[in-house]
Amino acid sequence: MGWYSAVGRRAFFALSPEASHRVAGRMLSLPLPWVRIGGASTDPSLAVTLAGIPLRNPVGLAAGFDKTGAHVDALGALGFGYVVVGTFTREPRKGNPSPRIARFPRQRSMVNSMGLPNPGAEASATTLGARTAPAPVFVSIADEPRDAAVATLELLSPHAAAIELNASCPNVEWGRDGGDEAHLAELVKALADRTDRPLFVKLPPFLTDAARDGVLALARVAQDAGAAGITCSNTHPVATERLASGKGGLSGRALWPHTPKIVAAVAQATGGAFPVNACGGIFTPGDVRACLDAGATTVQVYTSFIYDGPGIVGMLTRGIVAHS
Ligand SMILES: Cc1cc2nc3c(=O)[nH]c(=O)nc-3n(C[C@H](O)[C@H](O)[C@H](O)COP(=O)(O)O)c2cc1C
Repeated sequence: MGWYSAVGRRAFFALSPEASHRVAGRMLSLPLPWVRIGGASTDPSLAVTLAGIPLRNPVGLAAGFDKTGAHVDALGALGFGYVVVGTFTREPRKGNPSPRIARFPRQRSMVNSMGLPNPGAEASATTLGARTAPAPVFVSIADEPRDAAVATLELLSPHAAAIELNASCPNVEWGRDGGDEAHLAELVKALADRTDRPLFVKLPPFLTDAARDGVLALARVAQDAGAAGITCSNTHPVATERLASGKGGLSGRALWPHTPKIVAAVAQATGGAFPVNACGGIFTPGDVRACLDAGATTVQVYTSFIYDGPGIVGMLTRGIVAHS
């Protein structure tokens, strides 16, 4: 991973996670040679079509890294097949008290309790409207009361190639919940009716059999209500004293063993032809291959971008080409 693992990561990791995120944001605003830094393969064999959207490669950047949409130009230039921005809410949000991100380097994992800080739908529409992204931008919107979510969708759809609904549904840990299912069905219907963009629903992971039934039921509900695909998965809730809130969402390698199994189960539950974006602990070309073989059309990364730096998209895309 070259300069990043030799120097860059040490410099970033000497700062707190949020301070290093701010530094990364300032760097992404500079006119650096992002295409060269990313080093993504442009091999035509990498091209995929996701719910009708042509992508140059199947490696997307997951939601939550670019929480304002201000960096879609540099992030697209790095070579990601697509960039998910947000999650956005109707009104601006400050998020939870700090500390709200902790790194667990030995596990190549993180836990966060950001609480969706973001500038709100109006400001974000202005930010996105002022930029030309070299890769399709997917806009992540929050699971809010219907009118708020619809307003966010209407403000941001014009700037999006696709929408990803961040469906948190906390009850899946304890199995199926009819309230979650009815709420998701209503929200997905309302959103899908008001946009011509494909709508993906991002679900939480399942680590137990009880949670599995709940997540698979939500995937089918989303499909029946008019979603164009599923992103699986978001972070997994855990307790940690290192965050002010005492708990947060686990991301990174600790999630990995579950990701291809979740993809396979969701693909099977939704009939096999329904697009699935794999997310959770993806670090290597072999991980990407395992997710694609399990039925995913694309993958999304976040924590490996933090641990392995901006060359991750080059490493993954070149590795997929070399192993195909
Ligand atoms: C600091 C941080 C913030 C995140 N914020 C969001 C968010 O706003 N919306 C969302 O859908 N997912 C968010 N995620 C979850 C990631 O998009 C991804 O689903 C999860 O981290 C698992 O992938 P990974 O193991 O590659 O990181 C966040 C993750 C991290 C680490």
